[in-house]
Amino acid sequence: MTAPLVLGIETSCDETGVGIVRGRELLANEIASSVDEHARFGGVVPEIASRAHLEAMEPLLQRACARAGIRLGDVDAVAVTSGPGLVGSLIVGVATGKALAAALGVPVFGVNHLAGHVVVDELQHGPLADPTVGMLVSGGHSSLLLLTDDTSTITPLGQTLDDAAGEAFDKVARLLGLPFPGGPWIDRVAVEGDRDAIDFPRGLAGERERYPYDFSFSGLKTAVARWVAARQAAGEPVPVADVAASVQEAIVDVLTDRMVAACRDHGVGEVVIGGGVAANSRLRALAQARCDAAGLRLRVPRPDLCTDNGAMVAALGARLAASGAEPSPLDFPTTSALEVTRRAW
Ligand code: KG4
Ligand code: ZN
Repeated sequence: MTAPLVLGIETSCDETGVGIVRGRELLANEIASSVDEHARFGGVVPEIASRAHLEAMEPLLQRACARAGIRLGDVDAVAVTSGPGLVGSLIVGVATGKALAAALGVPVFGVNHLAGHVVVDELQHGPLADPTVGMLVSGGHSSLLLLTDDTSTITPLGQTLDDAAGEAFDKVARLLGLPFPGGPWIDRVAVEGDRDAIDFPRGLAGERERYPYDFSFSGLKTAVARWVAARQAAGEPVPVADVAASVQEAIVDVLTDRMVAACRDHGVGEVVIGGGVAANSRLRALAQARCDAAGLRLRVPRPDLCTDNGAMVAALGARLAASGAEPSPLDFPTTSALEVTRRAW
């Protein structure tokens, strides 16, 4: 039996994504982004994002089918992000997914965006080990997860107590006058800077006993704001590249330290990183160095599979379809705060 052909739709934030997979084979991953329309507001404006999804959806569906060399009628199942995310944006994707499934007479799976970020690596590097530790680092979430039962059981080990890692990157970038979203800019600017120039605080550094796998980034943002203000008050220029490199180091140092600890303490030999921040070049390099030193196998998808996309939704849908999971009823809801432990709606 050939693996199911699954079309995945992603509309949780400002990226409209349509992905097509056959089992674990990636056939198409088409993206449209409304990021430029939000830039002047310094953050995603939900109403603008919803309208952009609506406009992008049909051309993207056509492009994805053309790229994959299929017709919509060939699709065996539809998967769509049901949460977490912006409600108005999610509704566009979910309504499209349900309509397609009803018209084509195929099952629809409402899936969890967060689980998609972790499972997408299977499209590039094959099946995940059982058990696996997953580190999910995006604009809205930062969590360490233990994945067991062939990834069907997701147990949170730790998470951020305040800002998400991507949020920390974005807020610091804003302080430095860099465009939105700031994560990729910090990554770029930091290349020219000295990561040891400024010793920014490592969140929860002294609280390993109480919070072994948790993160905290709000103190870092305050420390950077104070440091920049002090320079400006003294009439000195702000060394943007050094600040960017030092902040980036503070974030990825804590992330990779806790990630390795989670693997070691739970006797797990393989770890996968997912979410937009997984595209960060320094996170990738430091994670690799620390995993090598600890004898762990690291998996990180290529950057375009880290940031939001439709392939990750299709990958999770294909997994659910292949395992005989019950499809979602046609009236399944959008859930803006869907918990990380649930793979499907
Ligand atoms: O997963 P994602 O695309 O959307 C959410 O589900 O939130 O993650 C977006 C986040 C943003 O905060 C963005 O600044 C960050 O990922 N990001 C990066 C990089 N690329 C994206 N952060 C650091 N370095 C990058 N290269
Ligand atoms: Zn995401």
